[in-house]
This record gives sequence, structure tokens and C-alpha cells, in this order.
Amino acid sequence: EAASKGGYQHFMIKEIYEQPNAIRETFEGNIEDPALIKAAEMISSSNRIFLTAAGTSYHASLVFSKILARRARLFSYPIISSEMSYVSSSLQSDDLVIAVSQSGETYDTLQAIREAKKMGAKIIAVTNVLGSAIVRESDFSLYTRAGPEIGVAATKTFLSQIMLLEMLSSFISYEIKTIDKDEKNNILNYLKYAPNLLQSSLEASDTLIPFLINFHKKNSSYILGRGLGSAIAMEGALKIKEITYLHAESYPAGESKHGPIALIEKDFPVYIVSTSDAYEIAGNAIEMAARNAKVIVVKPADLRLELKEDKRNIYFAEMPPSNNILELEPFILTPLFQILAYRLAVERGYNPDKPRNLAKTVTVE
Ligand code: G6P
Repeated sequence: EAASKGGYQHFMIKEIYEQPNAIRETFEGNIEDPALIKAAEMISSSNRIFLTAAGTSYHASLVFSKILARRARLFSYPIISSEMSYVSSSLQSDDLVIAVSQSGETYDTLQAIREAKKMGAKIIAVTNVLGSAIVRESDFSLYTRAGPEIGVAATKTFLSQIMLLEMLSSFISYEIKTIDKDEKNNILNYLKYAPNLLQSSLEASDTLIPFLINFHKKNSSYILGRGLGSAIAMEGALKIKEITYLHAESYPAGESKHGPIALIEKDFPVYIVSTSDAYEIAGNAIEMAARNAKVIVVKPADLRLELKEDKRNIYFAEMPPSNNILELEPFILTPLFQILAYRLAVERGYNPDKPRNLAKTVTVE
């Protein structure tokens, strides 16, 4: 086992550092494959698009949903797999369901596609495992190329799903003509560059960890975002909960005033995931800081100007710039939370590869 960890203490941290390679392989393995064109055609010729997934894969689906809304101006319906049975009776035969599952074996997701198929909807699987159960029961499949993931908490499969789904989004947008050929090629060129950016983000995150560990001194924290950032924030909070056993909660930042801000007390850690679509998030950071939370803005989007007058407890986690390219932002903003969760777990004496009560793949109801 030590040998397969390649000198790392745990699989999880090894897999976090494998991410630039995992997304590069996913890009290169799909870019010339006619499967993406076929999937884009199936999607654009259907009436409504549903996404179904569990856990981390659900968060990748949310990222896809936000990007698709922006680029293709298409609304898609993300449904947690175990909630599908409550809405499946409204599905119709011209609807399409994209099932996202790294293992392709998750019981809830398998059940969700069975429900959808009963209503006549078409199914596209997005998985990391050839020939898995979800692939066998779907009409069509796309594959990430992350390689096997051993750590229970998903890391490299998450960003690989995002890479593939963002490629798909650009193909769909081109297919339905909300972007032209040059715009599509531009997005794909940015995605080609994403592994380098992700590498820089891993390095920047590493540098920030000692500061953040010191910052994260409470048993509870908030991770907030708007738009795309709300999906990245949800994944960040899940990583922290899964392996550190500390409470971390995420919700769209604008909801703060509708309840959650009541919990804020001195030095409560609040992470603000600042994406370029997150208008008005500076206001949420200021509201939190004014109540003595310790606010850390994880940024590629430049909030510094808006926040510069406000010296109260607002810190900046500098990340490589995204030049406001939404597709690049998950690769820049996600690693910080993965590495933070990992380091906090190790510091607290837990084995991040084998979190209590969790299984890598849940094949039962
Ligand atoms: C389990 C794992 C999670 C994972 C979820 C969905 O709960 O612990 O890390 O995100 O299943 O898995 P899937 O293989 O369908 O992506």
C-alpha cells in the first residue's frame, strides 16, 4: 500500500496532487471523441434537461447547471438522486437526464435513472468507470479519465467531471448557437490551459494552509458563494465535514440575512468563494465582518477594491487570476478547501482516507 501512495502519507493528498493530470487526461481523451458531439445533439434536441447525482457528483452537476445557464442560456434541473422519485412522475419522453457518478454504481443514482426511464426519458451517463451499472442502464455514456480514486472523499474525480461537463456545455452552446465557433474554440483553449492553472492553485493553496489552520479555530464554519461559487462552496463544506468531522455549512451568500447570520459570533470562520458571476458578494463579506466573523475571501474575482475601506477581519486568499473566465474558476477555487480539509483532518488525528461512517460507493438503499 505504501508503494501505491507514491511517497504521500495518504491517498487523498496524492489524488489531490494528481488533479492537473486527471483533468488533462479527461480533456485529451474526449476532445477528439465524437461522443461529445453526439451527447450535445441528444441534449439540444430534448425538451428539458435534468441532472441527477449524489454527494460530490451532485456538486459537479450544479457547476454544470450554472455554466450551461450562462453559456447556452439553457435551464437544467439538478435533482439529488434520492429525491428523483418525488419528481419523476413529471418527466416526459422528450426529457433527458444526465446521471453523474464517478463509480457508476451508486444505488440512489441507479434508481433515479430507472425511474426516469420508466417515464420514457433518455439517459446520458457521465462516469469514471467503463461498463459500470449506470453505464449499462443508460442510453449513452461519457467518461472522465481521472484514473482510480481510492480516497473515500472524492477529489480528482470531481474536477474531472467538471472538465468534461464544461467541455459538454461548450459543445451544447455551439450546437444551439448561443456561442459561435470562435467562442467555442476559445473556451476549449482555456480548458486546455486549466491543468497549469490548477497546478498554480495547488501551490498557492499549500502556501496558505498554515494561516488557514490557525484561522479555522471554531467547531463550525460557513462557506458562502453566489452563482457558480455556491456550488464550489457546497463541495468545500462537504470535504470539511466528511473527513474532519467539523461542521461546515454552505448556502448561497444572499441567504445570510434570512437566518444563518444569527449564528455569527466573534471569530466565526466565514469563507467567501468569490467567482466572477457573484455580483454583490462583497456586501455579504462586509455584513459578516461587521458582526466580528473572521472573513476570508478566496478569490480570483477582484473584490479588493470594494472591500478596501473595510479593515475589519477581512483576509484575502490570493489565487491565480481567472481573467473572469467562469469555466476556469472551479479549478482555481476548489483545491484550497480540499487541502484545508485534508490538513485539518491530519492535524486532528484522523485518517482522511477512511472517514468514519462513510463508504466510497454506496450500493444499498
Ligand atoms: C459516496 C461517497 C461520496 C460520493 C458519493 C457519490 O457517498 O462517499 O464521496 O460523492 O458516494 O458517488 P458517485 O460514485 O455516484 O459519484
